Amino acid sequence: MDKYLVLGNPIDHSLSPSIHRMFAQQTKIEITYDKKLVAINQFDREIDSLVEKGFRGFNVTVPFKEDAFAKVNMANDCASAAQAVNTIKVTGDSDLYGFNTDGVGLIRDLVDRMGLTLSDSRILVIGAGGAAKGVVAALLGHGPDSIVIANRTMEKAKKLVTQFKEINQDAVIKCLELDKLDDGFDLIINSTSIGLAGEFNLVDDHVVKKKFCYDLAYGASARFASWARNVGALKVADGLGMLVEQAAESFFIWRGLRPETQQVLDTIRNQLIHSKSES
Ligand code: ATR
Repeated sequence: MDKYLVLGNPIDHSLSPSIHRMFAQQTKIEITYDKKLVAINQFDREIDSLVEKGFRGFNVTVPFKEDAFAKVNMANDCASAAQAVNTIKVTGDSDLYGFNTDGVGLIRDLVDRMGLTLSDSRILVIGAGGAAKGVVAALLGHGPDSIVIANRTMEKAKKLVTQFKEINQDAVIKCLELDKLDDGFDLIINSTSIGLAGEFNLVDDHVVKKKFCYDLAYGASARFASWARNVGALKVADGLGMLVEQAAESFFIWRGLRPETQQVLDTIRNQLIHSKSES
């Protein structure tokens, strides 16, 4: 039976094992999928040892996505644009092929599930870390009117814009200060990790009022989503749909079959609501 793992630190609360086991059951493919805590600075060594033990693929989460990009022998375009890998396929005996399915996951959730049109839309991405990098390339590929990056640390926003301009000098991307944002956006995406620690307080209410707001975070960390709902956003979504969609893309990369995602998403959301009401 082929073996797969999700690697991260922390990893305790990862929903990936539940999601992939449901995919396996649905597609009648027998695999094992577990989570593994990897010590900081041990990613390289751990991968070598796991490949030696016969694992056929890995999902990689915080804080190892950049390490994974450095480790793989080959990377697809999305991973190269993001310089981060969240899916590794072991090909042949020990070659590592790296992918980044986060952007595809977001687009499937926004466009296919929620029916949003990205072409000609004015998109604001709040945050300029690894999560932002992973999704901006995919968003640029869908012909938006513009993408604005706003971040607490302006230097990081500028660096991200420069990186994308280096790939394509006509890329419709720029950065703005958080306190200079107006109400001219159609879609606002939170990619910061602020919700892990506290309330969302990075932009004024008028930026999100009557707008479509998407939080890459989910569960208790989706504080941008709850804030946006409270201050009058038109529609609000958390990142659970993206999580399930990026997992489906990983499963497809490994097994060549695309699982059906809606039922899995409903089940995972119910599990989250349940675990919240129990804690
Ligand atoms: P990830 O891989 O989750 O994107 P990251 O690369 O560390 O993690 O990036 C975290 C993002 O959340 C950054 O944009 C960070 O802003 P800075 O670049 O200014 O650090 C943002 N972030 C995290 N905590 C924040 C906070 N308390 N207030 C504002 N921004 C925060």
